[in-house]
Amino acid sequence: MKTLAILAALLLAGTTAPALAQTATTPDVQHEKLWLGSAWYPEQWPEERWEADLALMKAHGANVVRIGEFAWSRMQPAEGEYDMDWLVRAVRMAGRHGMKVVIGTPTDTPPAWMTQKYPDILRIEGDGTVIGHGGRRQFSISSPRYRELARDIVGRMVAAVGRDPNVIGWQIGNEYTNESYDDAARANWHRWLQAKYGTLDALNDAWTTAYWSQTYTAWDQVPFNEEVGNPGWMLDLKRFITDEWVAFQGNQLDVIRAGVGPDQFITTNLGGLGWANKFDRYDINRPLDFASWDNYVGSGHLLPDRNGATHDLVRGWKKRNFWVMEIQPGFVNWAGVSNMLYPGETRAMAWQAVGHGGDGILYWQWRSALNGQETMHGSLIGPDGQPLPIYEEVTRIGAEFARASAAIAGTQPVSPVAIVQDYDSRWAIDFQKHHRDYDQIEVLLDYYRPLKAALGAVDIVEAAGPLSGYRLVVAPNLNLITDELAQHLTDYVRGGGHLVLGPRSGLKDAFNRLHTTRQPGPLAELLGGQVEQFYALDETVAVEGGTAAMWAEDLSATQAEVLLRYGKANGWLDGHPAAITRGVGRGRITYVGALIDDALMATLMDGALTQAGVERDFAVPPDVELMTREGQGRRVVILINHGREERRVPLPAAMTDILNGGITRTLTLPPEGVAVLQRNP
Ligand code: GLA
Ligand code: GLA
Repeated sequence: MKTLAILAALLLAGTTAPALAQTATTPDVQHEKLWLGSAWYPEQWPEERWEADLALMKAHGANVVRIGEFAWSRMQPAEGEYDMDWLVRAVRMAGRHGMKVVIGTPTDTPPAWMTQKYPDILRIEGDGTVIGHGGRRQFSISSPRYRELARDIVGRMVAAVGRDPNVIGWQIGNEYTNESYDDAARANWHRWLQAKYGTLDALNDAWTTAYWSQTYTAWDQVPFNEEVGNPGWMLDLKRFITDEWVAFQGNQLDVIRAGVGPDQFITTNLGGLGWANKFDRYDINRPLDFASWDNYVGSGHLLPDRNGATHDLVRGWKKRNFWVMEIQPGFVNWAGVSNMLYPGETRAMAWQAVGHGGDGILYWQWRSALNGQETMHGSLIGPDGQPLPIYEEVTRIGAEFARASAAIAGTQPVSPVAIVQDYDSRWAIDFQKHHRDYDQIEVLLDYYRPLKAALGAVDIVEAAGPLSGYRLVVAPNLNLITDELAQHLTDYVRGGGHLVLGPRSGLKDAFNRLHTTRQPGPLAELLGGQVEQFYALDETVAVEGGTAAMWAEDLSATQAEVLLRYGKANGWLDGHPAAITRGVGRGRITYVGALIDDALMATLMDGALTQAGVERDFAVPPDVELMTREGQGRRVVILINHGREERRVPLPAAMTDILNGGITRTLTLPPEGVAVLQRNP
């Protein structure tokens, strides 16, 4: 049934195979319309105030509210004492105001009575510092007692509101951040290693512990801290921390799944730093229904490419549309300069999220608590309970979401091109940067920008996931290539795919150990070439048609063609290949060994798109971002002028103007201007 619907949607949309690369939309509640709302903390206010809050939310066009995620001490004021009635009343009252509710579980903030009575649940940092009460995140994700306490409160929340028709979904915890180095965690670590390696000989071999007499003769000798150490050890520690978070989350997820209605979703909001890599975010999202993140600008203004790519990263965690569970209402309180966004920029941010596959957008927060660490944060209403200036802009967003929802619901960004992102490689390079300025996200964005400029959508996906639906796959930072991953990428190329590898590819194996073949290790044979030597650069070097900086590799080709050569460089590189490429049947593998300048990158990506047979979308003027969503036989085009000057955008065909009505062929977009159009198939 579902497959048929997908195929029908594809046929109607007139798209071909690449559309399959994106998991098709299911008619789940989280995607059935555009959701708009905010984080509301009824536990901070007298109940007499609630009606007024909800009425003001409704008045700006909100249809959802998130509650509960820090309210543990209100729900369980003392051991054995619970009060869930207020939660039930808040949910029902929201329902009466036409608002659906997302319930956050409160496990980011254990109550004071609990940490006092059970100090073993407190989080311990790598240096042994115990984190006490007063802030948040003072709990150990590994503590069996904390997991039991979490299960208990979550179970009671589920019992109270898990079948309430006003509740549409759940958020587990809040912004997973800090692991703990307590005794329970240490024991888990040693057990984890034992389960992974079986014998100490295997571990010693994988980490090459003969180096510096690191050889372990008992499991509990293996260090457990946040220091810089053996890169094999560091990589395993990251994977262990990921598994601890997955288990911490799973503990609550099981209780929620077992007790809530089948239509309720389960997600978590993975923080404002989408690119953060304290743990593997693909693994965290696997058991969830969809991914959510928190979109904050902090100081300054929206960086459209970086922010857009972050949305794409989040969409890629599950390969489906996502929610922005928190977005900034003008300004924050934690940035170096917590400046206000420009008028219209908050609206542009909301539409950018939608353009990249966001289906829900919630402001953080509705109203500031009168005390507490975040009284200075932006909000929609003030301490007097009345709308602040930003409320009007959010009201406009509300009206526009209502107008556009029917056209957008059930659509998603669909791309023939994917950029590969991989946490193992992120860690491996970050552990041993070799050039202090080497920033893998910047390297990825160097590839992203020209690809996004050519297309209404670009996917960012995990290396090990399905790739065959993409015509072109770019892997800018694939430092760690296991034999399995090499096979996966080889299958992709042999199946007709075009693969572009960036510098530093294929240096390390599954244990973060050097491959005994030259880069790109297990892909060198397919490439028909290899890296002779890598160089961190202390000066810019010449490459045919441009320059390279920071990193350059000397390539050699036995079967491959030379795509780019170094000019006068550091002596070692002079005249040698900087990029090589090899056709493999209908497929192709390309290796780019240097960090090249933007103009050269644009040329290179243009060539890669052409060679891969990717059709470009229509061209837009500078500062204007083009975003597309497809599905249900509809193609939606969203245009945003992120610049400070008015722009005229000629359209390739007449399109329906969803926000203003009518049919249009040319648009004029003021600064922060937004257009939402429907393109007829
Ligand atoms: C010192 C140490 C060596 C090695 C080198 C690396 O000289 O004695 O063991 O670490 O630095 O440059
Ligand atoms: C994060 C948290 C919120 C709040 C905001 C402030 O996103 O999840 O609880 O602290 O930051 O910007």
